[in-house]
Amino acid sequence: MPAPVPLSYPDPPLGDGSIGLRPWGDADLDVMVAICRDPDVARFTRVPDPYSEADARAWIDAQPGRLEAGEGVTLAITSSGGAPLGSIGLRVDPGDRDIAEAGYMVAAAARGRGLATTALRLASRWAVRELGIARVHLTAHVDNPASQRVAERAGFRREGVLRAWEEIRGERVDLVMFSLVGSDL
Ligand SMILES: CC(C)(COP(=O)(O)OP(=O)(O)OC[C@H]1O[C@@H](n2cnc3c(N)ncnc32)[C@H](O)[C@@H]1OP(=O)(O)O)[C@@H](O)C(=O)NCCC(=O)NCCS
Repeated sequence: MPAPVPLSYPDPPLGDGSIGLRPWGDADLDVMVAICRDPDVARFTRVPDPYSEADARAWIDAQPGRLEAGEGVTLAITSSGGAPLGSIGLRVDPGDRDIAEAGYMVAAAARGRGLATTALRLASRWAVRELGIARVHLTAHVDNPASQRVAERAGFRREGVLRAWEEIRGERVDLVMFSLVGSDL
């Protein structure tokens, strides 16, 4: 197992005029609970279900340690500097730190405006260019066309279906694997 390489938040912060990406903070606890209690988030991600305030507290408190241990970076997606509308994360593969897995979610009321696509585009390119990550990948449920569309529009290439790849909510599910590598940029 390679020794951990500490990570840090993007500096300057990532953004493109329409959205900004910044660390999650203590003041965002209620927003995180609301986003994570959405039925699609429960269905398509690995967040605890049911989702409690204690889950949000533990997650926010864990972020500095995750950075220090080089495990991953999670950023809140904001618009005009307001409260978070979603979240984008990169988790470094513990066995191969040239690989990172992306994950994202957007509050139901803010969907369909391109937030996830822009956030994924910004975060994945930062990972390749600034962190030296060779491959950013993500998996989307075969029945999650919105997430697959986000990946495609952010420049990821569809690689194929991984059958019975992972257990989510007690069921082995088929997932579509997408990747972005340095030569895609
Ligand atoms: C997936 C998710 C993050 C997308 O967030 P978003 O900010 O609405 O995404 P965007 O607006 O950037 O793009 C959504 C795209 O999916 C498309 N889309 C949405 N619902 C769709 C559907 N049922 N079928 C096909 N396409 C769909 C939209 O039209 C849009 O594509 P377009 O820009 O070409 O029109 C959001 O739906 C979500 O949080 N879902 C629950 C959690 C989740 O699934 N996370 C991903 C786990 S891999």
